Amino acid sequence: MNKKEFVKAFAPATVANVCCGFDVLGFALEQPGDEVWALKTHEPGIVISAIEGITGLSADPEENVIGVVAQKMLTDLQVEHGLELQLHKGMPVGSGLGSSAASSAAAAFAVNEVLGQPFTTAELVTYAMEGERKASGSAHADNVAPSLLGGFVLVRDYEPLDLVPLGVPAALYCTIVYPQIELKTSLARSILKKEIPLKKSIRQWGNLAALMAGLLRADYGLIGRSLHDEIFEPERSVLIPLFKQAKEAALSSGALGCGISGSGPSIFALSASEETAEQVKVAFEKVYAESGIALKTYVSQVPEQGARLVEQSILQTAQA
Ligand code: HSE
Repeated sequence: MNKKEFVKAFAPATVANVCCGFDVLGFALEQPGDEVWALKTHEPGIVISAIEGITGLSADPEENVIGVVAQKMLTDLQVEHGLELQLHKGMPVGSGLGSSAASSAAAAFAVNEVLGQPFTTAELVTYAMEGERKASGSAHADNVAPSLLGGFVLVRDYEPLDLVPLGVPAALYCTIVYPQIELKTSLARSILKKEIPLKKSIRQWGNLAALMAGLLRADYGLIGRSLHDEIFEPERSVLIPLFKQAKEAALSSGALGCGISGSGPSIFALSASEETAEQVKVAFEKVYAESGIALKTYVSQVPEQGARLVEQSILQTAQA
């Protein structure tokens, strides 16, 4: 087995909830994403020696999600050596694009590689969920699972974790608009009502089940009819400037559906062609043009692959 002493891993941004799948459904984007470098050290413990691409994140391994994830993996394996980690953020925090999840997933992936792959992908998801617990107080998997596995991933249950990777219809494209205000997931979760009326619940699980069928059959009409959220979107969309206008613009430009990406403020729209997805991007930009709000937009397919190795150095080779 090759012993990797240094690795660099990439994990992509993700769209969680996908309208009707609150906390149980998400999909990966091609870009943006985060990179984590992991280097084996002789001294025990974890050191985060650099954070690039963003300011204001703590380099304390007990505070930064990459340190939390890596420490739990080292502790569970009872290894004696330590790790030096570096984080390169490709997206801001509080964007609704699974920023903390991408860092956590990249950390879990990189550390697993440097340790000789002792963990399964499903186990990496549970480690990355510890980063989510640290970041938002809730260990949800709907961002970390697609960030690690790629594609669409359904979380059938949390106890125990039961992940269902789903197919990706070939012509499906996602457009993202990120109005650059910070919206903390913890805040966006704290405003949610704890009880859901039966009538709305019935509609939600009808839509979620139909969305699964639509994805598996590549039935774009069914996907479009299923992308609704009458429970959380009304409560959260008030926190997102021009949400209603952006959604209307996406739908009139031909998007199959549109909703809040994760806990916002990013908004996503799914389309059945790249051309439509580009038109939706233009429509989003028009909506925000005179608002004075800085924007980032992305058009992406849903990649089948999630976290991956970007670079490695193999300093020692031994027989398995
Ligand atoms: N399912 C989570 C939420 C995703 O909506 O709060 C955000 O990370």
